[in-house]
Amino acid sequence: KENIINRAISVLDANFQEGGFTIPSKGLYPFQWKWDSGFIAVGLAHYNTDHAKKEIETLLNAQWDNGFIPHIVFHTDDDSYFPGHDFHRSDLHPLSSKQYKSTGMTQPPVTGFILQDMLNIVDDKEDMLNFIKGQIDKVYDNHVYFYENRDPQNEGLVYIYHNWESGTDNSPVWDDIWDTMNPPEYTFERKDTTHVDASERPSKREYDHYLYIIDIAKQNNYDDTKIAELSPFLVQDPLFNAMLIKSNQALIELYGMIGGNDDKIAYLRKNQEKSIASFNKKLWNTELGAYVHYDLRNEKPIRHISSSSFSPLFAAIPSKERAEVLVHTMMERFGGDDKYLCASFDPTDDRFDPRKYWRGPVWINMNWMLYRGLKDYGYQEIAERVKNDSIELIERDGFFEYFDCRKDTGKETRKGYGGDNFSWSAALIIDLLK
Ligand code: DGY
Repeated sequence: KENIINRAISVLDANFQEGGFTIPSKGLYPFQWKWDSGFIAVGLAHYNTDHAKKEIETLLNAQWDNGFIPHIVFHTDDDSYFPGHDFHRSDLHPLSSKQYKSTGMTQPPVTGFILQDMLNIVDDKEDMLNFIKGQIDKVYDNHVYFYENRDPQNEGLVYIYHNWESGTDNSPVWDDIWDTMNPPEYTFERKDTTHVDASERPSKREYDHYLYIIDIAKQNNYDDTKIAELSPFLVQDPLFNAMLIKSNQALIELYGMIGGNDDKIAYLRKNQEKSIASFNKKLWNTELGAYVHYDLRNEKPIRHISSSSFSPLFAAIPSKERAEVLVHTMMERFGGDDKYLCASFDPTDDRFDPRKYWRGPVWINMNWMLYRGLKDYGYQEIAERVKNDSIELIERDGFFEYFDCRKDTGKETRKGYGGDNFSWSAALIIDLLK
């Protein structure tokens, strides 16, 4: 146990940059990513409080004047990643950061609950609460941004306009949306496949779709109203909304500890209730016994089960009865003895691919959330299995970005795929083992 923790610390230390942030993985991801930073800060809080605070501070420094927080902050000029800032051109938005180059899309809003986790982890509570006092309003402004700009039907459910906003970049869930689009063939040089085998990454044609959605946003200077009107990709994502709800709850509790701020607490509470009610009403699919994505552009549910379907457990969204159904669905489809928990996509679905990024492999951040959600609902044994599977995979192959969920991979002996020495795999294993 100590040995894994020490190795995880070496990974995080090696990925920490002079600018005060941690890259997800050398070569493949050379900048700061929003939800990565959050998970990384949890690991850092266990052994280097200064770095943990820095991680969050550098991310929040890149916030725009409208409360938006971008998915990538390009702290350095590095042409080893595509698409870089010169493709994204988020400076077209009038309220974008003048100080930092970034993308014009976001990622799951984890920062609120991460701040609360950091407080729970450290010994010096007073010092951390002071830090939180200085940062919390930025996270609050980010939530206001979401509710005021990303919820056109005023339901308490926010949309994402790009698959990269979901965090689950090439999930088979998006195939339904790609079917509704016919983007041009772009000419560009892939950089990711120079670092990682192409069989573990999205296809060229998928990238055409990704770039096309960015082009539409750019043509409209990243204006939210225009994007809501025109983007072919407009989805209410259960993972994204569960993160917002979890973070909302954390902000309510943290403001409660800080004192004052009654207006902010009232605003968060009002949205919290509405969000949870809509989530249960709109994103639950009775036939599948799981939460699913909703395609807001084409006004229909996307009927596939992914690890995002189980994330509501982490945010206390389902009732006890519904949680029972959800866990049953998970164990039936994802939980066979021949598999590690938890595949990122339904192994019984034709679109499942155990090697390819978000189309099947196990991800440590999803397992970390699932572990906590299962424990909260009293599924101690399954929770332990999720934890032990995560540790076993990492012990076996190292701190990879994702892992094959099959116990028997035949001739292929390796189970770790994607980026090596991947920061959040290291950070969250530290948290699971502490
Ligand atoms: C990538 O480049 O694959 C990143 O995940 C985008 O955020």
